[in-house]
Order: sequence, then structure tokens, then C-alpha cells
Amino acid sequence: MKTVQGIKEVRKQVEKWRRKGLTIGMVPTMGFLHDGHESLINKARKENDKVIVSIFVNPTQFGPTEDFAAYPRDLKKDEKLCKRAGADLIFNPEASEIYIDDASTTVNVLGLSEGLCGGKRPVHFGGVCLVVSKLFNIATPDKAYFGEKDAQQLAVIKRMVRDLNFNVEIIGCPIIRELDGLAKSSRNTYLSIEERKAALILNKSLKLAKKAINKGENNSQKIFEIITNKIETETLSKIDYIEIVDSNTLKPIETLSSSSLIAIAVYIGKTRLIDNFTVEVK
Ligand code: PAF
Repeated sequence: MKTVQGIKEVRKQVEKWRRKGLTIGMVPTMGFLHDGHESLINKARKENDKVIVSIFVNPTQFGPTEDFAAYPRDLKKDEKLCKRAGADLIFNPEASEIYIDDASTTVNVLGLSEGLCGGKRPVHFGGVCLVVSKLFNIATPDKAYFGEKDAQQLAVIKRMVRDLNFNVEIIGCPIIRELDGLAKSSRNTYLSIEERKAALILNKSLKLAKKAINKGENNSQKIFEIITNKIETETLSKIDYIEIVDSNTLKPIETLSSSSLIAIAVYIGKTRLIDNFTVEVK
């Protein structure tokens, strides 16, 4: 396994693989990798001849008051995980390799990017789409792997790929959780011991909602209230949003339908965490 920083080096390697007729899977990441990323790399390993992992803390997807500077970074540890999971190439560029000072092209997926996290983080999905489209153009993967924890990101990227005819298949992979139910996230590292305990409220509230749905509740307002009431029992929490939407359009729904997404973002102290589940109603 090699780590490279240059676009040219990635292209050269990809060209060599392509000449041999090999398929390429890509796992775009911002590093500080955990079991969730490892599961994506494992899946890419199974489904492709070669696997590229990109590690790039993308400045354009962070708002001015967000945690770009503080975002955790540990390349050595990431390299170990990638090697163990069977990646072939890590692309770890500097921002100057990816972004040209006088660039004037933007990539925005309208509608889908506007609610949920996009409503709270207005520049976020523009930055995600810009960097992901660049990564796809650089590495030209056959398949690319993204976690379902970022459900809106997954929907936005799928739409971008469809709309712009990128020749890549987007694969969504299940949320990986800690043993106690907290969804794995690089940002969990920000939590103090007390906050780490408090963060369980996200999964607990979603579990309560699931239970109610399994008993037949299909009214979005009722589900919203169940989640809100549970989260509000945790004093360290502050709800950023609770949304019950159609999982394809991401538009709010009044009654749970054939495929609904229940997505939440909650501050635990200063750390913003997200979680979600999709419910199939027959
Ligand atoms: O999900 C992430 O880690 C990032 O948003 C991504 C897709 C790597 C783009 O920077």
C-alpha cells in the first residue's frame, strides 16, 4: 500500500490498473478513520480489484464557525487501518493540490441539499459535492462507498452522480455503532467522559421512535414528539433538528410512507452529532 499526495501520481497508478483491466473502488474520507470507515474499505475490497482511500479534511465543506482547524487528524494511524483493511492506495493531498486559487466552478445539488444538515450548514453540501466530483475525476472509480450515517450526503451524492453522468456506482453502507449504540464518528473524540454518556441519548431516542413505529404509530408529529421528549431528558443535549422526511426527496412527510427517513442532529455540549434510521412502512 502506498500513500501519495499528488493528483498525477493517482492518475498514473489508475492508468496502470486500467491497462490490466482492473476495477477500482474508492472510499472518500476526511481521515481519523474508525470501524465505520473500515467497513467501507472492507466492502470496497470485496467488490473491486483495487481500492483507493482518500484522506482529505476538505476546507470548503466547513462553515466559518465550524471545526475545520480542530478536526482530528492522524495519518499514521489511518495508514495502519487502511493497510489492515486491504487498501491499495491512499490519496492524501494538500488543499493546494485540490483547490486552485482563482477557481470559479461550483457544484450544488439544489433541493436535496437545502433541508436537514444543509439547512443548518449552508455551505456544507456545496463543498462536499465539489470535492467528491474532483475526487471522482481524479481517481475515476467504478464504485464509491459512503456511510448511511450521513444519509443526506448519500442522497445528494447519488443525485449529483445521476445528474452529471459520473460513471461511478454509489454504494451506501450501514451505520456502524459502538457496543452501547452510539454511531461511530470521528467527532466522538471531542466528547468528554460525561458527554460521551450523554451522547447515547441520540440512539436511545431513535430506538423509542422505532418501538412506537413497530407498534403501528405512523404519525410524523407523534414520532417527532417521542424523539424530542426523550432527548430533552438529557441536560447536556440541545436539539439542532429532528426531521421525518421521504428518504428519496428528503421532503417532510406528515404520515410515514413506504420509505421514510428519521434523521436527527443534536449538540452534546459543543459537539454536533447526527444519527438516523430508515423505516419501511408496508
Ligand atoms: O463523509 C465525509 O467524510 C466527507 O464529507 C467526504 C465525503 C469525504 C467529502 O469530504
